[in-house]
Amino acid sequence: MDLSSVTVFANGRFCHYGDAKVGLLTHGLQYGTGCFEGIRGYWLPEDRELLLVLVRDHYERLTTSAKILTMSLPKSVDELVDITVELCLRNRYQRDIYIRPFAYKSAEDVGVRLHGVPDAFAIVPIPFTKYLDTSKGLHVCVSSWRRSDDTMAPPRAKITGLYVNSALAKSEAVLNGYDEAILLSHDGHVAEGSAENIFLVRRDVLYTPDPSQNVLEGVTWRAIKHVAREELGLHVCERSIDRGELYSADEVFFTGTAAGIGYVASIDRRTVGDGTIGPVTARLRDLYERIVTGRDPRYESWLTRVYASAQVNV
Ligand SMILES: Cc1ncc(COP(=O)(O)O)c(C=O)c1O
Repeated sequence: MDLSSVTVFANGRFCHYGDAKVGLLTHGLQYGTGCFEGIRGYWLPEDRELLLVLVRDHYERLTTSAKILTMSLPKSVDELVDITVELCLRNRYQRDIYIRPFAYKSAEDVGVRLHGVPDAFAIVPIPFTKYLDTSKGLHVCVSSWRRSDDTMAPPRAKITGLYVNSALAKSEAVLNGYDEAILLSHDGHVAEGSAENIFLVRRDVLYTPDPSQNVLEGVTWRAIKHVAREELGLHVCERSIDRGELYSADEVFFTGTAAGIGYVASIDRRTVGDGTIGPVTARLRDLYERIVTGRDPRYESWLTRVYASAQVNV
């Protein structure tokens, strides 16, 4: 991907991607001392509008992640939303995009710690490229890697260095012929995918690991729980989930900003349901897609309209 012409926000100003350099010894690069977000923007050609989804929720989570790392963001959530809209406008994006805000320890020295190291912040918006092919069922495995425990480094914060855990699991899965991995936590309960939350459907109840199961509390995860309760009247049960429950579920699906809603066709070579998308997953996916593409006016508050908010015609 050629990023040279992309305008980014770094060190408090807008500049070209290539002009925003970090040094080789940067703390965040050497030690993973940073946190980040992933925000989706959906381009609606018929409305000539770019919709950012639950952008405030992402910046609220980033603020919490930073706090856990004893970092602070340079701007308030409202200011960050405004900067993000301006960034989209400056790039004149007329396509689906993915926005990556991040904060990191910026000292260029040696010595692992959090205290006494300055923080830096940047936002990089890029064209969206498919993360997981969710048009077909995903074949997944339970990873031999366990999800990091909150007592080691808290997965509820989206911490840069923690993604080694996800990368180990994802690559193991893909190199063994699967599409994605499910990580169990140290005590053997289901946590999440490498970059997605997980839901199970059994006898018309929706199950998902509760926040104490070493999961990232996903923005999409929260949205889907809301839609399941409000629109489908489903009972949503958040509790610890055993590995065996994965194999006996009627439906299993992942949720994530980048991944969207992806249904699982098999787990460890055991077919989920009949291997096709289940009725609950299909309805939730349809409702979610309608919401994020601005086709459900009841959920307008979840969206930030980039061009309308700036009153710019493109
Ligand atoms: C480990 C992990 N879990 C879950 C998610 C899903 O979270 P969200 O819906 O906020 O993208 C992600 C994606 O960011 C993730 O990296």
